[in-house]
This record gives sequence, structure tokens and C-alpha cells, in this order.
Amino acid sequence: MKKITLSATLAVVALSLAATASAQVKPEDQIKYRKAAYSFASWNMGKIKTNLEGTYNAAQVKAAANAIAAVANSGLGALFGPGTEKAIGEQKTAVKPEMFKQGEKVAKLAGDYAAASNELVKAADTGDAAAVKAAFGKVGASCKACHDDFKSR
Ligand code: HEC
Repeated sequence: MKKITLSATLAVVALSLAATASAQVKPEDQIKYRKAAYSFASWNMGKIKTNLEGTYNAAQVKAAANAIAAVANSGLGALFGPGTEKAIGEQKTAVKPEMFKQGEKVAKLAGDYAAASNELVKAADTGDAAAVKAAFGKVGASCKACHDDFKSR
């Protein structure tokens, strides 16, 4: 009996934690987090590039590919909420306002990025540098495709 009560309590706690986690992130923080996420992805892309151009370290490439895919699959759309189409306080943004009006297109581009990143992880798992190079090119193209439409320079 006690056990049931405890697990019920834990379930409630877990639920409210989940609610807190997905609750409104302040618009200013949404901008901050998305820039950090993309910068982090970019750092990991750079690491893979270095590996492809120099000595290939399979473990390092795997770690970087997983990080890129984690960003891609994290639900970044949640960080493009209302009020984040322009700078807030110290948080400048390079997002184009169109991004908030072309949901379908954004979803497609974000989906392409996620799919390409998942393929990169698979390639990295094989340790085959040529496969990684090809998959890496596709991820890079998916970054660029979105920037071309929705990021100002
Ligand atoms: C679905 C669209 C989309 C995809 C895919 C995407 N980006 Fe971006 N990226 C953006 C937008 C929009 C911004 C501007 C964010 C802002 O300033 O609020 C941005 C900003 C950035 C920035 C600047 C961050 C900063 O601190 O200002 C970097 C670096 C970056 N992206 C790298 C990448 C890389 C690398 C990839 C692929 C691995 C990628 N992006 C994929 C839309 C995208």
C-alpha cells in the first residue's frame, strides 16, 4: 500500500518536473539557447572536418556526430516562440521574420537536418571515413539550406 502511494507521488513529481521542463522558457532565453545549440553543433562539425582533413580518430568523430544529432533531434522549434523574431535586451538574433510564417518549410528543413544527422551517426559508427565524408557533406548542406532562407548574415 505504502509502495503504491510512493510511486503515485513519484509519478506526480515526475509529471510536474516534465511540465516545468517544457514550460515557457523566457523569449530572451529561447534566443540564447538556440544560438548556443547551433554554435555547439557548429563546433562539432568543425571537429569532424578536422578529422577528415587530418588524422581520422573514429571515437572523436562518433562523439561529434552524436552531439550534432542530439541538437538536431532536440526539438529546437520550441526555441522559436512568439516574441523571439527580434532582439530582446542583450540577445541579438539573426533569424529572419519569415521563419515564423513558413512553418511547413521550416519543418521540412529541420527534418532534413535531423535525417542527415542521423545518417552521419550511422556512418560514424562504421568508422569508414569515406562514408562519414559523404554524410558530413549532406549535413552541411542541410545547415546551409536553412540559413539561406531563414538566417540573415
Ligand atoms: C531549421 C533551420 C536551421 C538549421 C537546420 C540550422 N540552422 Fe543554424 N541557424 C538558424 C537560425 C534561424 C539561426 C539564427 C538564430 C538566432 O540568431 O536567433 C542560426 C544560427 C546559427 C549560428 C550562429 C549562432 C550564434 O551564436 O549566433 C551558427 C554557428 C549556426 N547556425 C550553425 C549551424 C550548423 C553548423 C547547422 C547544421 C549542423 C545549422 N546551423 C543548422 C537556422 C538553422
